[in-house]
Amino acid sequence: MNKTLQNHLNEQLAALRDQHLYKPLLTVESAPGPRVFVEGREMINLSSNNYLGLASDPRLKAAAIRAVEKYGAGAGAVRPIIGNLAIHNELEEVLSRFKGVQDTLVFQSGFTSNAGTIPTVTEAADVILSDELNHASIIDGCRLSKAKRVAYKHRDMEALEDALQSTQDSRIRLIITDGVFSMDGDVAPLDKICDLAEQYDAAVMVDDAHGSGVMGKNGRGTASHFGVKDRVDIQLGTLSKAVGVVGGYIAGSRALKDWLTQRARPFLFSTGAPPAVAGACIEALRIMENDASLTERLWENTRYWQSGLRNLGFDIGVTETPITPVLVGDEEKAQSLQRELRAAGILALAVVFPTVARGKARVRTMPTAAHTRADFDEALAAFEAAGKKLGLLG
Ligand SMILES: Cc1ncc(COP(=O)(O)O)c(C=O)c1O
Repeated sequence: MNKTLQNHLNEQLAALRDQHLYKPLLTVESAPGPRVFVEGREMINLSSNNYLGLASDPRLKAAAIRAVEKYGAGAGAVRPIIGNLAIHNELEEVLSRFKGVQDTLVFQSGFTSNAGTIPTVTEAADVILSDELNHASIIDGCRLSKAKRVAYKHRDMEALEDALQSTQDSRIRLIITDGVFSMDGDVAPLDKICDLAEQYDAAVMVDDAHGSGVMGKNGRGTASHFGVKDRVDIQLGTLSKAVGVVGGYIAGSRALKDWLTQRARPFLFSTGAPPAVAGACIEALRIMENDASLTERLWENTRYWQSGLRNLGFDIGVTETPITPVLVGDEEKAQSLQRELRAAGILALAVVFPTVARGKARVRTMPTAAHTRADFDEALAAFEAAGKKLGLLG
């Protein structure tokens, strides 16, 4: 082993620990759900993105097994060679119908959907206008693109308009925004973004990782919520959060899909979803399409959880969605809150730099459709006790 490399890694790890930024990996010993087992103990789980509780739904498990029996365990090759299975096409058809778009292309994850799409649809002559709080995978997608980048102030339409005015000489202008911002739970003003895009002849891409299954009719997403689906050029969704499995997709025009199948590098050079994944995702989408009750329960539970935290005196910021940050600020205090909650049987993980800015540490909580009132009441009692102990509550 190379000593210089090992020393470098150990020094960096020590620095992270000193700054309370080191996050040990937690091991979950049971299926995802509102209660999970960690170190042999049942705990209330308030940290998953399993918004609708579908990750361990028996209908998805049965669909995954059926897909394995028909197609096997793996796709066997990248999709452009011989790994494009009929079940991949079926998933894309179901997604296109659900999103009400011409066509859809599925990637291995939401992350690779961004990293694969952004550099494939933009070139040096183009400009990307990106909300400053966009997700890391958008930032990495922009880094891979040869286009110029302008980060505009978070959700600030004047700043976006200034950026549009100052880039009139470029060819394509692509505005990219999260639909729902993953750390604060606030929502992009997509209707106003579309107005500006039309006024300045720009294209719009929305990353709806946290909007899919949550926003709009039956969870069709933020564009559906604002009624602007036909005004958004590129909709990104994930299959890893509300859909409960893994994967990502790009929904839009037929030309967009066609171009991505020819040039998007994660699609060309990395094997696609295993059949079980595609089968389970199809089942999840069928459930979402035919039954709005899961999304309705998610929002009901969100109201209960958020008003409980607010009534206790916690600051949950500007959230408009189930994403519920308990804002703490100091990194060490956020880690202490996580520790106190864990001792009380509550899993609610601290989020610190670099996921959020320094001094903006928080414990991010995520109510789901599968939680019960009893889960929330028990968790609220633990939050109250920990908040008082740490001086976060009066
Ligand atoms: C806004 C946003 N985009 C993309 C992703 C990546 O999604 P996936 O987990 O499917 O790779 C995430 C996940 O955290 C996200 O929050």
